[in-house]
Amino acid sequence: MKLFLDTANIEEIREINRWGVLGGVTTNPSLVAKEAEDPDRVWKEILAEVDGPISLETTQPEADGMYEEGVRLSQMADHAVVKVPMTPDGLMAGKRLVADGIRINVTLVFSPAQAILAAEIGAYIVSPFIGRIDDVASDGMEALRKICDIYEVQGYETNVLAASLRHPMHIVDAALAGADIATMPYSVFKQLVKHPLTDLGMDKFLQDWKALQEGLEKGA
Ligand code: G3P
Repeated sequence: MKLFLDTANIEEIREINRWGVLGGVTTNPSLVAKEAEDPDRVWKEILAEVDGPISLETTQPEADGMYEEGVRLSQMADHAVVKVPMTPDGLMAGKRLVADGIRINVTLVFSPAQAILAAEIGAYIVSPFIGRIDDVASDGMEALRKICDIYEVQGYETNVLAASLRHPMHIVDAALAGADIATMPYSVFKQLVKHPLTDLGMDKFLQDWKALQEGLEKGA
């Protein structure tokens, strides 16, 4: 399972990219708006920093406008992936973009039924929003498991990207469900690496090493 960052903040992306595990980046209009800068500038910086797929989201609500915007976004770089929403207009625009050979990510997906539609238009990525399903007292992980099972049974090649992930166990459970990609905020990425026993173990190793050096210096 590839690990993506769900952010438009270049400093966060640069820090995690140095770890060597960053497979790509997803952005959305809310995340880009948080940066309060020219969106093209924000996207170009991200595209220059990370080699993997970078999702750039359309904001035109109607199919024709969304298609034109999608073509423009796809031309920003070969690794740009165009996000379209799971709406009738999103399906229409998405289908045209796919026919042009453009990779699309169908976003705002909340059910297996919607995920089937995304696969049927030949989407490169489908993005079920796990945390937001949980927010309405439904089971986001169960929806993800069903989507992964349906894609397996049907032989769909669309990549399942678990989105709206809120904590490390969401990533673990998404991997168990068979998701191809998990995208997460910077804070969750940082939590993934943390374990109190790792910190305690590190402290003890360093203490013992220091004691050894001190003992050797005294004996010399
Ligand atoms: O980028 C799409 C999705 O990951 C958003 O997550 O936390 O706003 O529900 P969230």
